[in-house]
Amino acid sequence: MDLLANIWLHIQDKGVVRTISIVLNRMFDFYFDWKYKTDTRNKISLHDLTVTGENKARGSFYQPTMALSFNRLLDRVPLPPDSVLVDFGCGKGRVLLLAVLRGIGKAVGIEFSPELCAIARNNIKIVEQATGSRLDITVVEGDVTQYEIEDDQNVFFLFNPFDDVVLEAVVKNIQKSLQRKPREIVVIYYNPVYSHILDNAFLPKNSYLIGGEEYMHYVNC
Ligand SMILES: C[S@@+](CC[C@H](N)C(=O)[O-])C[C@H]1O[C@@H](n2cnc3c(N)ncnc32)[C@H](O)[C@@H]1O
Repeated sequence: MDLLANIWLHIQDKGVVRTISIVLNRMFDFYFDWKYKTDTRNKISLHDLTVTGENKARGSFYQPTMALSFNRLLDRVPLPPDSVLVDFGCGKGRVLLLAVLRGIGKAVGIEFSPELCAIARNNIKIVEQATGSRLDITVVEGDVTQYEIEDDQNVFFLFNPFDDVVLEAVVKNIQKSLQRKPREIVVIYYNPVYSHILDNAFLPKNSYLIGGEEYMHYVNC
């Protein structure tokens, strides 16, 4: 009954199409965790987590990217050859898993909550066991501002993980890495609250509305 009441409220607030899309996305998220026996769902407030570093107040709570929308995004965004994806604020690792399961060779997640890092690493192990293959995924525990970008990394994903101050620092780190090692990169900013920062740093290439969710796509050349 609660569920039906919730859906009805949602329809009144967001409309029928958006509500159907969200229900489908939630079902697919549930299916993903059920299929692999992973734990990637459910929002978690940063108040309920331990955090490494000084940027807790600048961070967003844990909320996973919707799996169906992300897969559709990957179908649409042209990626550079030998893609290596970095998820800034990777949470429980859903994006890392989806990326590698969809053929991206290597993925790295940075996350400042040790609890979420442990869940992400466990999820990776579970999917490796389920698929019988080793997945090239690394989860780095720490604050994104302290992370030095590596020369092979060329696809940068952000699901509105932090405020403008932290985002500026991350953008500077990407630019520093490009000066050191010029290369073609793609930046995907989901729920782009502070898009003006990326607009000033990279070339806006496209904006995708997938299942009512907005993703900004930037390139550097
Ligand atoms: C909205 S969630 C996105 C999770 C994941 N990227 C996804 O799309 O499924 C944002 C995540 O960023 C993390 N986070 C926020 N600020 C951070 C920082 N300064 N350094 C590292 N992680 C951070 C939070 O702990 C949270 O897990």
